[in-house]
Amino acid sequence: MRYVSELKNKDLSGEVCLLRVDLNIDPEQARYSPRISSIIPTIRFFTERNAKVVLLSHRGRPKGFDQKRLSLRPFAKILAVKLRSRVYFFPTFDFARLRKKIDSLEAGGIILAENLRFVTGEERNSSSFAKQLAEVGTLYVNEAFAVSHRADASVVAVVKFLPSYAGLLLEQEIRNLSAVMRRPRKPLVVISGGAKVLTKIGLIRNFLKSADLFLVGGAMANTFLKAAGEDIGDSLWEKASLAEAKRLLRTGKIVIPVDTAMKGGQILDIGKRTRKLFAQRLTGAKTVIWNGPLGYIEDDRFARGTRYVIRCVAASQAFSVVGGGETVELIEKMGFTKKFGFVSTGGGAMLEFLSGRKLPGIEALNSSIVR
Ligand code: 3PG
Repeated sequence: MRYVSELKNKDLSGEVCLLRVDLNIDPEQARYSPRISSIIPTIRFFTERNAKVVLLSHRGRPKGFDQKRLSLRPFAKILAVKLRSRVYFFPTFDFARLRKKIDSLEAGGIILAENLRFVTGEERNSSSFAKQLAEVGTLYVNEAFAVSHRADASVVAVVKFLPSYAGLLLEQEIRNLSAVMRRPRKPLVVISGGAKVLTKIGLIRNFLKSADLFLVGGAMANTFLKAAGEDIGDSLWEKASLAEAKRLLRTGKIVIPVDTAMKGGQILDIGKRTRKLFAQRLTGAKTVIWNGPLGYIEDDRFARGTRYVIRCVAASQAFSVVGGGETVELIEKMGFTKKFGFVSTGGGAMLEFLSGRKLPGIEALNSSIVR
């Protein structure tokens, strides 16, 4: 795999960098998202070396050309403010016009293309769409770890057509996540929350040997509580994961809530005693891996458990790795981002990586042979 950092002593005049980023976030929350702050150095890396930059991203899961709901247009302004530089928005996939626009740009100019998923070829990993994209650039950079678990044209097929690099952020993601997988300092505590057991099961299985404890919260804890014979009222739980939850409980490594905060018969957060229990179990941890909120944090009343545990992890000496959009945005809102060892931009991608699966976007870069 080739890394952008290898280009640091080069003048890149005349180059057009297709920079795949992940702007799949709510523009209203953009200022709290590492998906914006962490791509700024990469964009500057290229503009300061006189390359032109074409930013590529998807947003949401549109059915067709849904510019009303899922355009990337708002991000041109957001990025321009951050970069203190003009960012042109290009609203169509008229490649001849896009090429003209790029030609007319000054060195170091930046264009943001429209949501790639408006074109069906993107999610189909279409070679012809990837080729059209590639033809407007001279090199390709994957700076979108968060979508590298998807075999999309701008993540996978495109590397067949251009010299391709892992971006500065992608390099950090691979390095930090690999480190906690291969040689975590012990004790290692995994905090697992969010909606579904099913999406976390790969990670839990992969860490069953190396982790000392798993602190389980969020809606996924309901299935574990049910498996332990607890009354969970009308809370959502997953029948398909019940047997697995029972099996995991028998390992003795799973810590489930001992009390909860409820509304309308549903569990929406961990309770006060559980907050204390989790804090106690985190004491002395040398590595913490965290994915998924411990309650329904969209509603501030049910964000208390997650906030409490964020403070514990931030105050601990452990090397902490955290991912998942809502959790990292809350960490940023609380001003604790810098207290974490590494904040991943990945949600699903982080889970897949930590489950030991190969990510198509990373594999594509590994096998890229275009020079
Ligand atoms: C994410 O937010 O996890 C990525 O952008 C991937 O989005 P997707 O799940 O819609 O492919």
